[in-house]
Amino acid sequence: MAKRLVDLRAEAVEELVKINNIKDLDSWKIRFLGKKSKLAQILHSLAKLPIEERREVGAQANKVKMALESSLAEKRNTLQEASLLSSLQQDKLDVTLPGRPVSSGHIHPITQTLEEISDILRNMGFQIVEGPDVEWDYYNFEALNIPQWHPARDMFASLWIDTSGKDSRLLRTHTSPTQIRVMEKTRPPIRVIAPGRVYRYEATDATHESMFYQIEGLAIDKNVTMANLKDTLFELCYSLFGKEIRIRFRCDYFPFVEPGVEVAIECLSCHGSGCRICNYSGWLEILGAGMVHPDVLRRANINPDIYSGFAFGLGIERIPMLRYGVDDIRLFYRNDLRFLQQF
Ligand code: DAH
Repeated sequence: MAKRLVDLRAEAVEELVKINNIKDLDSWKIRFLGKKSKLAQILHSLAKLPIEERREVGAQANKVKMALESSLAEKRNTLQEASLLSSLQQDKLDVTLPGRPVSSGHIHPITQTLEEISDILRNMGFQIVEGPDVEWDYYNFEALNIPQWHPARDMFASLWIDTSGKDSRLLRTHTSPTQIRVMEKTRPPIRVIAPGRVYRYEATDATHESMFYQIEGLAIDKNVTMANLKDTLFELCYSLFGKEIRIRFRCDYFPFVEPGVEVAIECLSCHGSGCRICNYSGWLEILGAGMVHPDVLRRANINPDIYSGFAFGLGIERIPMLRYGVDDIRLFYRNDLRFLQQF
């Protein structure tokens, strides 16, 4: 019996040395220390031995049991430490590495300009409204004194959606149709601005895009005069380009206003002496305007004998182009971050 115990211990230790994972260790435990192990059998059979022998073998068996248990615990510790170490090495995280920068978005230069102009005009009491991009022939042309046969239609190379006479639809060529929509729905006093996209059927180049932005303005009340128009537009130009800017205010023709005017500012790049940017004229045209034509008012059921009004339409892209020296309008719509991040 004593010899069996010695062999058993030797066998168990020999096996234990070979083990290199927890799973095998668990089966080792069952095999050598479990309820059905040889050691358990020996302990069980002690009862049948004579008392002297029982004491001796019992003590020895317990010693073996304790020795195996402590070897087991030691081995378990070693295995756990090894596995922790290897997982630490595998998932190594270098906390001294610099973090990845989080890039923050910002407002598109065209939107910035739209917001700036809207703010200036809002402070003068204008309310912001919007009209649809897909417009009826009636609002884009007819109601603005541009009937089918009118040569002014040639001013606007239009993108038609369907052409069935009076019910034709197109992508609006300017923001002016919003004037009519407002006049139909509201009674004077009216003071609105309408920012938005407009579309032209045009080959694109450095100064032309088939889609661009305008802001339309409209003010109607009793006793609105050309002086009010001039003052509003001059204030707008001073706020945008500074108090020192020279402004040219002169006659122009648009079918929906009478009289019509055109506003130009002194060229920001040559200050009037003439350069490539201003086409050697010294001036940059930035907007069209005028006193709302009595026929336009009448068509919207506003009595021109009682009310008068002014309107203006301003292109947006030109302003950041002049300010920042952008020489190609198409850059604004290419979505190239290297360009956009500069603003
Ligand atoms: N709608 C015109 C255009 O796109 C600009 C314009 C001129 C608007 C005169 C107006 C105006 O409101 O009174 O060319």
